[in-house]
Amino acid sequence: MPAHTFTIALSGKGGTGKTTISSLLIRAFVDAGDIPVLAVDADPNANLHEALGVEVHETLGSMREEAFTRTIPPGMNRHDYVRYRFRKALVEAKGFDLVAMGRPEGTGCYCFANDLLSECMVQLEREYRFMVIDAEAGMEHISRGTIGTPDILLIVSDPGARGLRTVARIRDIATSLGLANDRIFVVFNRYKTGTAPVDIGNEKPIAIIPDDPAVEQADLAATPVSQIPVDSPARIAVRELADKIRSMADAKKV
Ligand SMILES: Nc1ncnc2c1ncn2[C@@H]1O[C@H](COP(=O)(O)OP(=O)(O)OP(=O)(O)O)[C@@H](O)[C@H]1O
Ligand SMILES: [Mg+2]
Repeated sequence: MPAHTFTIALSGKGGTGKTTISSLLIRAFVDAGDIPVLAVDADPNANLHEALGVEVHETLGSMREEAFTRTIPPGMNRHDYVRYRFRKALVEAKGFDLVAMGRPEGTGCYCFANDLLSECMVQLEREYRFMVIDAEAGMEHISRGTIGTPDILLIVSDPGARGLRTVARIRDIATSLGLANDRIFVVFNRYKTGTAPVDIGNEKPIAIIPDDPAVEQADLAATPVSQIPVDSPARIAVRELADKIRSMADAKKV
């Protein structure tokens, strides 16, 4: 069992490529033998499973609502029942497991339920070397504590001036959640060569992912984007990003 889980969250405004890059990152870790990886879909509009080519039957959000309203089986207390349902909601695939968080909160007060979920998440986390979280711009699950503060945050952006303004906003949210500035990195996605040079301003990106026809093709053909050819440009660039992250994780290990 790995001694420490290195947690990577991906944020960014809508449609910048969080899910695409999350799935390729998970793929890169799996291919390199850093298994198992825990994939966490923290976007209420869950679709990381599609990018990875697996099916999700239940999100933790819907499980929570049900587990707290229905009668629990005899001989089980609510705590055990939630743990049991949590395990059942985990999708097991080759090299990685996936859990979809669903909505951060339903109607009514779920503080107790959220505490239980975060307890389950902490327990689960320990079994993995890498945990990759596909989050949304607001990072609600992190702010509500259902997911702990990640080791690093990757802000995915398009390489233009407007993208950079969003990066600054997300960086502010992240620092207010307790993330140190040197743990926050920018990933430029959909970079097109032959067009204007990347205006990086003060943001030194940790990776620049090219605009890749294979990614678009996967989308059009409704095939899992994580399965694009190994030599396609986006997959190569994300593999290099995975190598950098692995070095950070190794440096953190005492
Ligand atoms: N490097 C790339 N090359 C070509 N197309 C890309 C690339 N990255 C992402 N795309 C395309 O951009 C669109 C948005 O990507 P994706 O779903 O990964 O973004 P997202 O940030 O997760 O979006 P959302 O905010 O809706 O969750 C998709 O159609 C995807 O195929
Ligand atoms: Mg997405």
